[in-house]
Parts: sequence; structure tokens; C-alpha cells
Amino acid sequence: MSYGYLQIEQSGSLRGEVELIGAKNAVLVIMASLLLTNGKSRLTNVPCSSDILHMIKLLEELGAKVTFIKKEHCLEVDTTTVNNLRVSAHIMKKMRASVLVMGPLLARFGRADIALPGGCVIGKRPIDYHLRNFSKMGVTIETSGDSLHVEVDELKSTRLVLAYPSVGATENTMMAAVLACGITKIINASLEPEVLDLITVLKKMGAHIEIAPPATIIIQGVDDLYPIEHEIIIDRLEAGSLLLAAAVTGGEIHLPKAPAYAMDVFLLMLEQMGHKIEVEKNERGIRLVATNYPQAVSFKTGPYPSFPTDLQAPMMVLQCLASGTSVIDETVFENRLLHVRELQKMGAKIKLEGNKAIVTGVDELYGAQVIASDIRASCALVIAGLVAKGTTIVTGIQHWQRGYEALEKKLAALGAHVEIKFERPPHIDSAYYEDQIIV
Ligand code: UD1
Repeated sequence: MSYGYLQIEQSGSLRGEVELIGAKNAVLVIMASLLLTNGKSRLTNVPCSSDILHMIKLLEELGAKVTFIKKEHCLEVDTTTVNNLRVSAHIMKKMRASVLVMGPLLARFGRADIALPGGCVIGKRPIDYHLRNFSKMGVTIETSGDSLHVEVDELKSTRLVLAYPSVGATENTMMAAVLACGITKIINASLEPEVLDLITVLKKMGAHIEIAPPATIIIQGVDDLYPIEHEIIIDRLEAGSLLLAAAVTGGEIHLPKAPAYAMDVFLLMLEQMGHKIEVEKNERGIRLVATNYPQAVSFKTGPYPSFPTDLQAPMMVLQCLASGTSVIDETVFENRLLHVRELQKMGAKIKLEGNKAIVTGVDELYGAQVIASDIRASCALVIAGLVAKGTTIVTGIQHWQRGYEALEKKLAALGAHVEIKFERPPHIDSAYYEDQIIV
């Protein structure tokens, strides 16, 4: 659903408590991993965002029977009937995570046909690491135009080195290796919390997996894997977005189950800005009381446990209104600063130098009509709209709907004036540019 827009009015300080939902990025790969088993599995704490609905369509297209009880956030997947190994282009193009069915299909059926993936427009996002690893495991790869055919008689276990700790390549390789004969090592693997949740699921299925420092995943292949029940980990990105929304509006928020254990560098940056953070028992649960005098902080995105690239855009909004200058270095993706132009339309002072954004704090942002280019950019623009003078219209809401389950309602419950309108966006003049003309 891409028809419509988000309308945000300048809001007061956000206050209250929010219940968080499961991590979209964990659910997507765990749904793909169910293809490794033959039977009915049950996932709980599953958000109803459009990426999850696309993954349901994909699994159904492969022949799985899926029941999603949205109110209970409970998803049941029966993979007994999987009989098709071809994923159509229209599903593949909608969501890059579709590529994650390749590893499980190769492991269970020895082949897969997929189109090249789509998803957010953030950089080149190739899948060469996935394919290089599969090839080393004995997989034949044939490409023709936009489609890819992968096939193997028997997956070989081997030692695989990732040039960069790619989340998707680690997950895809691991899902292929769990049913390969012998020991596979993935060196320089991604150990993001969502990858660890996948490892928990694979172990519940009967896989033998160990992690060796600093970042090697060792997999001893097994003959069979079995259906599971699993509660998805809480979404650290939803938690981060809500903390940022409360912080930028000078508010107070309590997130009872927030995974503080997986958010250290991000929370440190908020503290360095002057916000008060309290982490609750067992590092689950966060309270934030915002400062009225935020100081700018500089940060660099990187693989976990560094600052997550998925919180870079919304964190930039806070720097736009902080005292001083912030240098934001995006090192994970080479083209993930498209929100800068939109924030500039709202009056932000940002200079781009390659993949670095140099942000100088201003006193105010102004409502404007802006375009969300990816999931996390949509979040940044909504957060900016909460403090911008006047009305902000965010188009490209399909990105917002891909990544979050009704986050606008959670924000509204805290006092934000934000809603989705399912109609053509009106044209609004930028208050910022009007001001410039009057001056
Ligand atoms: C996942 C997350 C996404 C997050 C990203 C980084 C999901 C569904 N998405 O995306 O929200 O922003 O991790 O934390 O879990 N690369 C290559 N070749 C490859 C694979 C990756 O060059 O074969 C590069 C990418 O272009 C990028 C970097 O590696 O520059 C990291 O990408 P990767 O970790 O693979 O991200 P995704 O798994 O796509």
C-alpha cells in the first residue's frame, strides 16, 4: 500500500509508556529458516508490517500454509506442503530479505529460482557475498537477466571468510550450512542481535552451532531439523525510534521491555547529548528523560555492537536541533544519506562530504512536504515533523508501512499529532522557505 501520506503537526513533549513488538529483521529471516523443516512452527511477537505480509506471500507461493493471527501477533507456518522452489519477481522486487530463502531452499531441496532482490534504495546492496559462499559450498549459480538459478547435489562444508560482516550473507550461509555434511566456519560473521535470534531458532530446530571469538560461527551439519515455537526478540529499532521521538520533543518515555543489552552505543550517544537514561533490571527496559539543552554528538555507524546504520537517519534529526556541530559517518551503506536533502527542506543545516554529514544545530525546523526514500528515512522525517513548526507531509509511506506496525498510533498515544491519510497529498508550502522570502 503506497497510496497516501503521513501528516505530522508540531507536537508537545511526548510522554508515556509504550509496549514494543518483535524485530522485523529477526522475523523475516526466521520465517525463511522455517523452510529448513518439515512441519508446523509457531512464532509469537510478530509485527504486522507489510514486509512480514510480503514474506507470508512468498512462503505461500512456495506452497507453505500460513496462518497469521494479527491481533495476537502469532504466526503459524506449515512447511509440509512446500512444493515450488521458484520465487516470482513481483515478490522478490518488493523486499530484499526475499533473498534469504535461497540458503534454506538449497539446504532442503538442493535448488532455488529467484529474481534479483528489491527493497530499500540504500546503496548498491549486491548479494555477491551470499553467492560466493554458496559457490564455495559447491552450488552452481546461473544468472539470466534478472533471474538466478542455484542448484547443488550435496552442500559441501568449508571455511568461509566474509570480506565484511554482512547480516544477510551470514544468515543465508548459516541456513545452508546447518544441513551440510561436516563443519562449516563463517569467519568475520555478523553477530547482530537478529542473527543471534536466528541462531537460537536454528538450535531449537536441532542445529549444532557455536560462536568463537571474535566473530566466527561454527556449524556442524545435521541430517534433519524440526519445527519450533519461538518468541521473536523485541525490536531495538522501534525502541530506538521511540526514544528519539521522546528526546527530540523534550519528553519522557518508558519502554518496559526495550532490549537495552543490544543498544549500548546508541544509549551512550543519547547520554552524551545530555538525556537521562535509566536501564532497568536484566538490561530489559529503558526510561528516558530528555534534556532541554541537547549537545551535538558525532558518531559513526558500523556492524554491531557499533552504532546501528538503521538509527542513523532518526538520530541525525536530534543533531539538527542540538547545540554545536555533529559529524555523522555512515560506513555501512554507501548511499544512505538521502534523508539529508529532505531535512534541508525543513531548515536543517547539513553539509555532505561523501558519506559524512556535517550537521550544525539550528533553533528550529519548519514543516515541509518531504519524501521518504527508505524505511529508516521515513522514521527520521516523522520525528523531524514532531518538532517542526507547522505541518509536515511525508510521502513514500510504503517504507514506513514496511518497517513498522502502526508506529504512528504508538506515537499518537504519547501525544504526537501524526496520522496516515489515505488520499492524494495536498501541496503545502514550506514554512521554512516562506520565512526565508519574508526575511
Ligand atoms: C540488514 C538489515 C538492514 C540493516 C543492515 C545492516 C534485514 C532484513 N535488513 O540488511 O535493516 O540496515 O542489515 O545492519 O535484516 N554487502 C555486499 N555484498 C553482499 C552483501 C552485503 O557488498 O553480498 C554490503 C552491502 O552493500 C552493505 C553492507 O555489506 O554495504 C552491509 O549489508 P548487509 O549487512 O548485508 O545488510 P542486509 O543484510 O541487506
